[in-house]
Amino acid sequence: MRIGLIGYGGVGKAFIKLIVEKGSALKAQGLDLEVIYIMGSKRGLYNPQGINCAQLLAASKDGESITIADTEENRKITPAFLLQNKDIDLLVELTSTNKETGEPARSYILKALENKIHVVTGNKGPIVHSYWELDQAAKENGVQLGIGCTCGGALPSVNGGTIEMAGSQVYSIEGVLNGTTNYILKEMEDTGCTYRDALEKAQTSGIAEADPSFDVEGWDTALKLLILTNVVMKQNKKLSDIKIEGITGLTPEEIQLAHGEGKRYKLIGRATREGETLHMVVRPEKLGEGHAFYHVDGKNKAVRYESDTLGELTLIGGASGTTAAAASILRDIVLIYNR
Ligand code: HSE
Repeated sequence: MRIGLIGYGGVGKAFIKLIVEKGSALKAQGLDLEVIYIMGSKRGLYNPQGINCAQLLAASKDGESITIADTEENRKITPAFLLQNKDIDLLVELTSTNKETGEPARSYILKALENKIHVVTGNKGPIVHSYWELDQAAKENGVQLGIGCTCGGALPSVNGGTIEMAGSQVYSIEGVLNGTTNYILKEMEDTGCTYRDALEKAQTSGIAEADPSFDVEGWDTALKLLILTNVVMKQNKKLSDIKIEGITGLTPEEIQLAHGEGKRYKLIGRATREGETLHMVVRPEKLGEGHAFYHVDGKNKAVRYESDTLGELTLIGGASGTTAAAASILRDIVLIYNR
């Protein structure tokens, strides 16, 4: 399978490293992944015979990421060049999220699908804005669109809601969908530190978004809730339909007070159907030990579905991190190959 990667940030780098580490095992299972393009925001690498990622990684400064030299040749390797060449089977789209329009990722994905190229993305922007349009394009062109990474990475929230709940009507979705805030709240509870100190730790560990307000003001949770609601409950909701409150207003005193009551704050995203109305909200909530999410610790996340015929399903795990996110991209590629 010939792969083009657009977006060489933390997850993109971890993805290439993972391909190098897992390449032989996947090949033994019949899946030969050949990376043809690696593209950063300003330049890229292209080798129609396949980029020797293992060699370039071994020769790199830290063994963690391949350097894309600033040469005239590499500056010509752009998304437009890749989409014009059409010489890949699958596009991995990992540019950063634009929550206002989903662009330019939406256009890259649409063009690739129209050219009968499978797409796997970790980018929430195009999925919140245009999921049904992209889904339709994939179907019309006989290719697949993998979006598992957009909703909690290693937490199988999309597959859980679509594959495992297939044929039922999901009437409620509840989740701890952001690892950064979950980590911050637990850190504040355990050490009594301030929100700023805990955020700094999350940033050092690489899980916080480039702009951490995305995490702590609830946007990341809201985007994931919106994707799950639209995809699992077959809706066409918008970000403006969600009431969003983050964790920035919570004080160490409130967290300790909850601790004294045997409770914990979690940033919850919830979509609930009441008759014809769908309520969507993101807000910190105090949970007691009886709640399934009480023990969702550290960078872990969770999602819970309630349905008419398949009952309840709770999934816990999928700790946030670049390697875990990259692994969820690889999971979608393997699933596409196996279908
Ligand atoms: N910043 C996110 C989190 C990871 O902390 O879960 C990407 O969605």
